[in-house]
Amino acid sequence: MDVRIVSSEEEGGKIALEMFKDQLAKNPASVFGLATGSSPEGFYREAVASDIDFTKATSINLDEYVGLDENNDQSYRYFMKDRLFDKKPFKKNYLPNGMADDLEAEVKNYDEIIRENPIDLQILGIGRNGHIGFNEPGTPTDITTHVVDLTPSTIEANARFFANEDEVPRQAISMGLGSIQKSKKIILFAYGEEKAKAIQGCIEGPVTTHVPASILQNLSDVTVIADNAATSLLK
Ligand code: F6R
Repeated sequence: MDVRIVSSEEEGGKIALEMFKDQLAKNPASVFGLATGSSPEGFYREAVASDIDFTKATSINLDEYVGLDENNDQSYRYFMKDRLFDKKPFKKNYLPNGMADDLEAEVKNYDEIIRENPIDLQILGIGRNGHIGFNEPGTPTDITTHVVDLTPSTIEANARFFANEDEVPRQAISMGLGSIQKSKKIILFAYGEEKAKAIQGCIEGPVTTHVPASILQNLSDVTVIADNAATSLLK
């Protein structure tokens, strides 16, 4: 893994922006896997402020809460429109539909979308417990898109975005670890000391389902963009 230690999210965002531009220079119709949460925000700010052109590109997001529609400002569809898509249009944006009546059919539909649009470059954040997407500790490494019961740790971590913890949805639809591992290139962002243990497990720990991000050690093209605090436990 290539670990790039940065002094700010702005600096991290600029590094990622160059990697996105390189990918688009190779293929303007590239497929980008995108994430929500605080970690990629610096990158989205840099992208919006730049001349990057996604109009021929496709995006596929990692996950979406079950039960929040796109007008809910905590839904990931709302987040993506607000941070990126409304300002930088893509040819096509895919997110799981957390409002689907038949979640199992939606899971299959999303797998089909991922199969038809192989991901060239995937962005990830990392949970304090080492999750990527909503693949919580213990998730099988070959799993595809699935409905997840969020762990108490994730519910607590995400409560900061809601009025209170009770309002955090208890389920999400997530791209699976099996699909994430098929991305040709991955960028993982991690900022802040609350990510230090997860980053240590991801980079230096054994590859184990207890730390889902540790599977990234098996892949050939992974860049971790992190600050001093998040890398403070590395040897
Ligand atoms: C978001 C996602 C999650 C987050 C992770 C870190 O789409 O898939 O895995 O990346 O929970 O969240 P933040 O960046 O808010 O610390």
